[in-house]
Amino acid sequence: MVATVIPVDPFDLVIFGGTGDLARRKILPALYRRLRAGQMPKNAHVVGVGRKVLPTEAYRQIAASAIREFVRREEQDAGSLDDFLRCLTYRNVDVRGREGWSELRELMCTDHVRVFYFSVAPSLFSILSERTHDEDLATPDCRIVVEKPFGHDFASARTLNTEMAATFDEHQIYRIDHYLGKETVQNLMALRFGNALFEPVWNSQFVDNVQITVAESIGIGDRGGYYDEAGAMRDMVQNHLMQLLCLTAMEPPAQFDPDAIRDEKLKVIKSLGPVMRKDVVRGQYLKGNGGSGYLEECGNPKSRTETFVALKVQVDNWRWSGTPFYLRTGKRLRSTLTEVSVAFKDPRHWIFDEHGNRKGTNLAIRLQPNEGITMRMTIKDPGPGGMRLKEVPLDMSFADALDEGTLTMPDAYERLIMDVVRGNQTLFMRGDEVEAAWSWVDPIILRWSQDGSVIHEYEPGTVGPIESLFLLHRDSRYWREI
Ligand code: BG6
Repeated sequence: MVATVIPVDPFDLVIFGGTGDLARRKILPALYRRLRAGQMPKNAHVVGVGRKVLPTEAYRQIAASAIREFVRREEQDAGSLDDFLRCLTYRNVDVRGREGWSELRELMCTDHVRVFYFSVAPSLFSILSERTHDEDLATPDCRIVVEKPFGHDFASARTLNTEMAATFDEHQIYRIDHYLGKETVQNLMALRFGNALFEPVWNSQFVDNVQITVAESIGIGDRGGYYDEAGAMRDMVQNHLMQLLCLTAMEPPAQFDPDAIRDEKLKVIKSLGPVMRKDVVRGQYLKGNGGSGYLEECGNPKSRTETFVALKVQVDNWRWSGTPFYLRTGKRLRSTLTEVSVAFKDPRHWIFDEHGNRKGTNLAIRLQPNEGITMRMTIKDPGPGGMRLKEVPLDMSFADALDEGTLTMPDAYERLIMDVVRGNQTLFMRGDEVEAAWSWVDPIILRWSQDGSVIHEYEPGTVGPIESLFLLHRDSRYWREI
């Protein structure tokens, strides 16, 4: 199946942090793929900006090796790579000084969409906003892209929002949460609002509980410095899990429009009840399973940073009151899996003598890997011997359903960067949304820092600390297998 590709308008994209890890791993490969797919025009212009003095030819070599390393072999071809490299230029710019800004300005085309991608430490967001503006690079419809983490708590996020608002309008600011760019995360909306089947039963009258899991088998790698300040709560819950929760729980927006959707997501965040101490479990991985422990990896033997967190969350609104949402995320777990599962209540009146092998969770939406949907249905166990029941899976893999297994899901960054050029903010977080998410997360983190509550150790390659199982057992429920 060939996906429909609608080319975007010619653009100038300036990547501050152009030689950094994110640019090499994600931004440049995403642009290359879009050029190869025919979506990025060949007269688009990508300017890598950094502190180093580097000839453009050397930058093109950096980009070429990034493409070779991070793009699948089947997607690599010399012609597309040459076309892509021709779009690239490099400039060294002193963010705080005068050097490089006028050279950068000279590269800009007046009739191109202008995008400034701040792929740098958040501490530089404000100064970069100011300088792009003061150096006459900004235009009334230019776009600014910022990466997470957007602040480390409510106060810092608000400061950043205020400082950026001094130079740019909200409609120009694109805050990335790359989970929103994942095809299957967007599918949550298609599934819910494109099928009459789900919405009538998508509420506390029919849903017993919802589970959202983002499990990773990898550890923190060489990101110890950043991670030890963040922990799973700031790194994953405040953003990625929160977005999944919003898309699962929100009301149908009146139309598929950026602000209509973001208004509904904001309402969900604002309905989240405070999380009680007994409803949170945090953990930290030990050494084992062929890897070192977190304490060793982060370089802080006394660290009390969580690499796992499980929470029971209440969405206190008309639709969800009484249906708990269980969230969990962790590193070095048994497998890598992102999934939203919905357990429906038993039918109101049961007419059969037996219950079959009912497991409780009837709908699981696998966001990665092996994107797809599984429904568990109760059927009659075939054969004579009375009305015996059996639960069987209705399993659908998107890849099989769409293209006999050969479909490649585009990387989140491909979709997101093209949306920036198109000026579509649907899949980006609005300032008030980010602040509301921090307001909910902050008290949990604050309590941890004040009450010295236990951090449970767990063996790598497991499902996390055993205490997270108790979080559900005490409600007579079970986590889905990971
Ligand atoms: C990032 C986090 O935002 O998301 C990482 O900082 C995490 O810690 C990553 O590993 C997970 O993203 P993905 O796309 O691999 O699920």
